[in-house]
Amino acid sequence: MEQIKLHDKVFERYIPHAQILEAVQELAGRVYEDANGRQPVFLVVLKGGMVFATDFAKHYPGDMILDFIRVKSYSGTRSTGRMEWLIEPSENLEGRPVYLLEDIVDTGNTLAFMLDRLAAYKPAYVKIVSLFHKPEAYHKDIPLDFVGIEIPNKFIVGYGLDYDELGRNLKDVYQLKA
Ligand code: IMP
Ligand code: MG
Repeated sequence: MEQIKLHDKVFERYIPHAQILEAVQELAGRVYEDANGRQPVFLVVLKGGMVFATDFAKHYPGDMILDFIRVKSYSGTRSTGRMEWLIEPSENLEGRPVYLLEDIVDTGNTLAFMLDRLAAYKPAYVKIVSLFHKPEAYHKDIPLDFVGIEIPNKFIVGYGLDYDELGRNLKDVYQLKA
């Protein structure tokens, strides 16, 4: 098993790039059908959602608008629960179908915070598109509309996901070694 070291921790290869791309492609198709001819606004949740959004956009077959938001919520390998809105949407979201492009939904704290804030922009709806999801860690009632790959409650890096900012540029996803 291929291993890498980031800061003080060792990670092992967990999900190969090809499998991730397949999931992204499938998500793009499902969301396209869901949008049903309407022109969606994709809100990319920075920084983690950037790599996912890049491949998602390339596989999205219809017209769409990309916009970016940034929320800071994590420090190290544990969710802190403290949250800050660092970048707000720049597009007018009023009356429009909005899809959040998230790298991962873990506890759901970030998601709840973002949905609460986004309501003020009066979108037609906000649906959630998350590449990864940790169902065991999730403690919110908010249903996730589109999930690419469910994983156990272990810390991962790669394909946009970081461990204290390192690892985002890895093509594959790696899991923290026990
Ligand atoms: P939540 O608020 O606990 O759902 O955490 C969501 C955010 O925490 C994600 O957008 C990620 O930035 C980060 N995060 C959660 N789990 C992981 C992980 O396993 N690796 C890297 N970042 C993660
Ligand atoms: Mg992060």
